[in-house]
Amino acid sequence: MSRYHDDHLQPDGAAERLLAARGASITVRPALEGDLPALARLEALCFAEQPYPFFVLRQLFDVHGRHLLVIGTSTEVYGYVLLAAGPGRDRNWVLSIAVAAEYRGHGYGRRLMTELHLLASAEGIGDLWVTVAPENAASLTLAHSLGYVVAGRAQDYLGPGQDRLVMVCRAG
Ligand SMILES: CC(C)(COP(=O)(O)OP(=O)(O)OC[C@H]1O[C@@H](n2cnc3c(N)ncnc32)[C@H](O)[C@@H]1OP(=O)(O)O)[C@@H](O)C(=O)NCCC(=O)NCCS
Repeated sequence: MSRYHDDHLQPDGAAERLLAARGASITVRPALEGDLPALARLEALCFAEQPYPFFVLRQLFDVHGRHLLVIGTSTEVYGYVLLAAGPGRDRNWVLSIAVAAEYRGHGYGRRLMTELHLLASAEGIGDLWVTVAPENAASLTLAHSLGYVVAGRAQDYLGPGQDRLVMVCRAG
């Protein structure tokens, strides 16, 4: 959750209603290799200035694939969350979360984070850390509601003028 926030598009709910009418189920699942092109497109849309390029997603998938969760239907990826965690790690970082603009505000971000927390808990992973842009209201609301607290503010964390709030959710 370390990049910036782009909320210029609001969900209109049309796609959501269509899916509901069709009875399509929306699930959270581990990402598959075949999801990577869709994730790259999602990145480009959600983080226009600083998207993870395909090759970075590819490598993150190789290293952290078990903790890369996607939400969507059998044919469409709506969003994803990525945790970099493991035994002996100094800190377990939620590196990124994104939901496509047209699907925001429907609880999908919360579902992704809730599933990630359940997975982390089941694996005995302890505290979870995130960085959030101070002006990213949606991410801050989500993080606070899940129990994250601000541990500090890192100046120029992602480069000049790119401060981030460092937040932690204590396990147990
Ligand atoms: C952050 C993000 C993933 C949230 O996804 P989402 O599916 O819209 O989130 P949800 O619908 O589950 O909402 C989660 C909470 O955030 C709140 N929220 C959503 N949009 C908000 C906004 N624009 N301002 C303030 N709060 C907001 C909701 O009220 C909700 O809280 P509630 O359940 O108590 O009502 C999504 O906004 C996003 O992809 N943003 C762009 C990418 C980004 O900034 N990622 C984080 C940095 S890596």
